[in-house]
Amino acid sequence: MNTKLVLIDETQREEEIQKALWEAADILRKGGLVAFPTETVYGLGANALDEKAAGKIYAAKGRPSDNPLIAHISCMEELRPLTAKIPEIGIRLAERFWPGPLTMVFLKSDRVPYGTTGGLDTVAVRMPEREEARRLIAMAGVPVAAPSANLSGRPSPTTAQHVWQDLNGRIEMILDGGPVGIGLESTIVDVSGERPVLLRPGAVTLEMLEEVVGKVEVDPAISGIPGEDVRPKAPGMKYRHYAPRAEMVLVEGEIKAVVDKINSLVKSREEEGCTAGIICTEETRRQYWRGIVRSVGKRSQEETIAHNLFAVLREFDDLGVDYIYSESFSQDHLGYAIMNRMKKAAGYRRISV
Ligand code: TXA
Ligand code: MG
Repeated sequence: MNTKLVLIDETQREEEIQKALWEAADILRKGGLVAFPTETVYGLGANALDEKAAGKIYAAKGRPSDNPLIAHISCMEELRPLTAKIPEIGIRLAERFWPGPLTMVFLKSDRVPYGTTGGLDTVAVRMPEREEARRLIAMAGVPVAAPSANLSGRPSPTTAQHVWQDLNGRIEMILDGGPVGIGLESTIVDVSGERPVLLRPGAVTLEMLEEVVGKVEVDPAISGIPGEDVRPKAPGMKYRHYAPRAEMVLVEGEIKAVVDKINSLVKSREEEGCTAGIICTEETRRQYWRGIVRSVGKRSQEETIAHNLFAVLREFDDLGVDYIYSESFSQDHLGYAIMNRMKKAAGYRRISV
């Protein structure tokens, strides 16, 4: 299959963008696959109501078929037909955070096929903030099922080039809207039960959610290593996601000690003839003298760290480093989501100094 790459960023005229969006919407209506930018990461879209189209997503990504997809909508009116029940807290969260980086899990209606929900009786729904994404969904006239547009197991794509790397030849079209804003996937909250439960942390933080609906439970699988005893409620969270090819280790502790430890680890690896990448911050980048050093931004600017993280993991993949040593970050607010992705990328390997 020939994958068409079309620019829809701010360098393009409105008519050009409109034309590209209509072409993409047409592909979606006909049951094809289109990758498109959202404010979180690039998504790989298909008609969420068409089981066969959703099936193509699993094939293109190499994704296990028990891992459900998020249905993306363009306005509130599109929510009701997908759900069997919309609880009051769901409405409050939607009013506060939609459009935006929040996904909510509801009991599904009969219209949503099990092929989209991985066999579950619930459906995850999100209204993205990125305008072109909502225009595309509205033009397609159907809810758009969209997981992150990466090959299963690779870090989520934050640029159209990342999507191209993974999916060229496997999908009909990629809409290139430039780098995404946030860089981490949406927050997921299950509102289908008695109490809201956080299934995946993201840019809508736990603190922000609790301001609107009071206490939110946290799925124990978020903090622990998924295994027999802790089964994540978001099936996708059990996979070793965001995994770089290298062996990654998080080093935590007082920052001076962390820098010393990473320097000594990299030295030993290089002496063994291996290559090592270092994930650090603006504050510390000049304190590393070996290895391939990449800063993800200033420690005080968590948004920048979130924005850069997946691109750095992919770059280390492209460079073929054998090891990645990373500094750790605070776990409040957005830091909670950042550290969640980093721990998964590291396969939960960590060293405390
Ligand atoms: O930011 C995002 O959410 C991006 C953009 C494209 O919108 N999408 C995304 O999709 O990250 P994906 O498929 O990579 O992650 C979806 C997660 C998976 O962990 C999946 O298991 C979970 O959502 N999920 C989907 N439907 C669910 C359901 N009914 N119940 C529980 N978890 C669900
Ligand atoms: Mg994903």
